[in-house]
Amino acid sequence: MKIVCLPGDGIGVEVTAAAREALAVLAPDLELEDRPFGGAAILATGTPFPDETLAACRQADAVLLGAVGLPQFDAADVRPEQGLIALRKALDVYANLRPSRQGPVDLMVVRELVGGLYYGPKGTRDDGTVFDTLEYHPSQVERIAHRAFAIARGRRHRVTSVDKANVLETSRMWRRVVTEVAAQYPDVELEHVLVDAAAMQLVSAPERFDVILTENTFGDILSDEASAVTGGLGLAASASLGDAGPGIFEPVHGSAPDIAGRGIANPAAMLRSAALMLEHGLDRPDEAHRLDAAVDRALERAPTPDLGGAATTAEAVAAVVEELTR
Ligand code: IPM
Ligand code: MG
Repeated sequence: MKIVCLPGDGIGVEVTAAAREALAVLAPDLELEDRPFGGAAILATGTPFPDETLAACRQADAVLLGAVGLPQFDAADVRPEQGLIALRKALDVYANLRPSRQGPVDLMVVRELVGGLYYGPKGTRDDGTVFDTLEYHPSQVERIAHRAFAIARGRRHRVTSVDKANVLETSRMWRRVVTEVAAQYPDVELEHVLVDAAAMQLVSAPERFDVILTENTFGDILSDEASAVTGGLGLAASASLGDAGPGIFEPVHGSAPDIAGRGIANPAAMLRSAALMLEHGLDRPDEAHRLDAAVDRALERAPTPDLGGAATTAEAVAAVVEELTR
């Protein structure tokens, strides 16, 4: 099986190397190859998403992605993040699964990933007005809703659909379509919550959620919030899946320029993303569970600074490898 690794920028490079080390022990038959992506690719080739990277991703069984973003490109016309947005669209990975678990909290954000504000018409008018457009076709809502209800069936049978239906047309359509899809899943309980209330409840009562189904931008924001109430971004993994073709597996965190190059990034989010890859991308659930368990045990022994410990990335990975070879 062939995995394309896109280390990207900042700590993306460090945590991808960590995943490589763990996978070499856990699943030595996997073939991993690196391709340029993000800011690193802009510097090398002028574009964040070279054609040969896209071609390699299309032929892969899965894509394992570090992080993109470099401060030097923050205001540039060509930015690393454009590569990520284009990659998601090219592979049509519309379902972004972001699990958060800690203590009594066990929830999964199911974020629509290839529509909405990120992809609508945008630009600048003659008078200087700048615009981004939020638009969805009902079929885009329908397919992500089906995914969320199917996932809820494997969990606690509860979907919270998050929208802003008291203000937005797209949200009113979202609510109608989700309600229609729900009729096909009578064993799953559906509730609708406005996004501002959902943001509050995520902080005050996160244990009340099972599956949170929401559109692209709301999902971006709420998934960071969900990770913050369950141990932080250093632990949060994600899987981006379509109906066919390779999925993308990446930590929820970004390139973290503030700690990049210091060897102290928590590799757990990336390792858990690799576990999601084994489970959802390669259909190897046993190895996925072994990796998750090894990461959990290693974090207790060798916590990184974000968790209040002092372990370096290398020490944390060494602990994971030790757990895997026990
Ligand atoms: C994420 C990130 C990306 C997003 C950025 C880097 C474009 O924040 O995966 O959550 O907004 O989707
Ligand atoms: Mg984000």
